[in-house]
Amino acid sequence: MTDHDSGGEPYVTHDGPEQLATPPNQTDSRGEGSSGLAAPGGPGGVEERAPIAEEVDVRAERRAERLVALWFMISVFGTLGFIVTNFVGDKHKQYYTPAMGMSLALALGGVGFGVILWAKRLMPHIQAVQEREVFQSSDAEIAATEETVAAGVLDAGLAKRPLVRRTLLGAGLALGGVFVVPLLNLYNSKPGKTLDHTQWVKGARLVTDEGTFVKLGDLEIGGIATVFPAVPIPTATGTHYDPQLTINEKAQSATVLIRLPAGANKPRKGRENWVVDGHVAYSKICTHAGCPVSLYEQQTHHLLCPCHQSVFNVLDGCRAIFGPASRSLPQLPIAVDPDGYLYASQGDYDEPVGPAFWERS
Ligand code: FES
Repeated sequence: MTDHDSGGEPYVTHDGPEQLATPPNQTDSRGEGSSGLAAPGGPGGVEERAPIAEEVDVRAERRAERLVALWFMISVFGTLGFIVTNFVGDKHKQYYTPAMGMSLALALGGVGFGVILWAKRLMPHIQAVQEREVFQSSDAEIAATEETVAAGVLDAGLAKRPLVRRTLLGAGLALGGVFVVPLLNLYNSKPGKTLDHTQWVKGARLVTDEGTFVKLGDLEIGGIATVFPAVPIPTATGTHYDPQLTINEKAQSATVLIRLPAGANKPRKGRENWVVDGHVAYSKICTHAGCPVSLYEQQTHHLLCPCHQSVFNVLDGCRAIFGPASRSLPQLPIAVDPDGYLYASQGDYDEPVGPAFWERS
């Protein structure tokens, strides 16, 4: 038992609640019970709590101790699982992310639950009481503040200048538009709708950012290029291909063209003629959060998104095989015309581009 000393240290008693020190100038001089704040019971008006089982029963204490140790052991196994998964995960990619997540949850959760149980069941339980002043201004202070505000309004002269008063009111209301306009913009921009269709139309040629139409054979095996649509426009002298797109149209229509080795591609059913001599075309917009997918591993035929490391298997219809993306990259059916130029053979992608979570209704 520690006694309260004159230096303001708390006194601690295991026979009842702890009385925290109150600075000498804040001592509640009204005494317990006089303000109606104090309740009957121990020091500070706080009822003494009943002891918990672990404080009076040695076997309960042991049980709690073992429970805490169990959670810490769970944490150890979680950590080992995390390390092992990290090293063998490459061979079992489909289990890698869930296994890493679960083992990390056990590692962190085990420590967390163990510490909480330790604190709740095994650490000494001490009740503490601290007196506080009533947090309220006095009547005199309130009156003085009101007087100051009223004097300020009078000084400003708003009462005798109706023109200023009204225009100020108008300016304040108009200023509200600053907050309303961004909200309206948010409401009106529906990314799901704008990405439903891109600029790819039937017959559009594949053109590079530099304006070169892509011909069969331009790409080497294992090569990759970013291409955009050059929209066909019939003219008196033939067809003109217009590669002029706005920034937004370009961003929506960006496509990766990859040339795979002959026979490597495993087209899905019904897509056998979407490919020309190993050339495949997929949307460049990651189906996770919309970053440009741009890293191509020639050896594994994987496309990587640099933002959150989603991986797409190009040989298997650009199926998402790793990372947070859950949807394949949409495919653009392509063909080659008699002049050797690659073009969109059926129009747009087979499904909307971009993140899967956006509302598309
Ligand atoms: S945006 Fe591609 S993985 Fe997140």
